[in-house]
Amino acid sequence: MLEPSSPHSEATESQIVSRMILEVVAADGQVLEPEVRWLDEHLSLPPGAALALARLPPLTNADLALIRPRARMDALQRAWSVAMVDSDLAPEEEHLLARFAEGLGLSPLEASDAARSRRVVLPLERLGITAPENPALFRFLELCARTDGINKVSHCNFVTESPCSKVSLEHWCDLGFHKQGEWNTERFPARHISLTRGRAEGVPWDELVGLTIRDDDAPQATPISQRVQPHELQHISLSIDPRADMEVIRAALERHGVRFMTPVLTDHDPAGAGLRRMFTATQGRFFIEFAQQVPGEDGQHFDGLCAETIEDLYQALDGADADWASLTPSERAAHTHWLPDHVQLEPAD
Ligand SMILES: [Fe+2]
Repeated sequence: MLEPSSPHSEATESQIVSRMILEVVAADGQVLEPEVRWLDEHLSLPPGAALALARLPPLTNADLALIRPRARMDALQRAWSVAMVDSDLAPEEEHLLARFAEGLGLSPLEASDAARSRRVVLPLERLGITAPENPALFRFLELCARTDGINKVSHCNFVTESPCSKVSLEHWCDLGFHKQGEWNTERFPARHISLTRGRAEGVPWDELVGLTIRDDDAPQATPISQRVQPHELQHISLSIDPRADMEVIRAALERHGVRFMTPVLTDHDPAGAGLRRMFTATQGRFFIEFAQQVPGEDGQHFDGLCAETIEDLYQALDGADADWASLTPSERAAHTHWLPDHVQLEPAD
């Protein structure tokens, strides 16, 4: 049983935050295994307490007011983290988070900051990609965070050449990543390695990084000996709500001047699960991927990533320069407003 605690005490505050999190977990009517794992790891409650808290009536504004003002933003960010854990932000979850923000007395700006922080800023900061160094990129991510159906950062893909690959892999290992899979492409010769790292406070989903190692001897923009980083960021992938219409999202971004280098590409695995992707135009060497998991009948996620899936992207990249050359100067300027041609990374230690 939970011990009653006095108003404004840390115990009360911690109970209210735990109840916020439990309400978010239950908001979409289902409690998924990743959510249970996150609850176990991050709510330090005695055995049975979560169940007891879950039986209490929904939090009122008076309950939320028991959280100290300086802890309210953190409480909302924690609730956002849990809502994003399965990459699927249900309308009920979004509605509940808006109600919490209001009940906590946070302004609309603070509420949207909390959302943006958990959806895009924190996952990138943890990889050394920060807003002050990359204003155009974060302007674009803000636009994405305001666009219905775009959920959060799914992964970042870096590129390097063979001579730097050992140093790059060591960098990711030092940050706690370990190799998950490897694919070789032949039409566009390269090795593609996926690396994962477990959950952390505030980012309650496994973090994913891709590393593409080119074996060609094409001249590089920066000679290896002068590199500050052993790799560069090639693309950021943003996950799309499974119920969203990719074409609607594409049209919304195009209205702001964002250009795309591919149509919506669709792949299916043998179990019927699908993966839909589209890629923005490159300007320079950087672009954004939008990826939508379409679960199969058994609810399983797409499990068909293979060299051919990756070749599709490289086929599009092969024609990217010609596409860019075909744009009018104003079309190029509109796209460049949103995306940088190169993303600055924090210096490696
Ligand atoms: Fe990707």
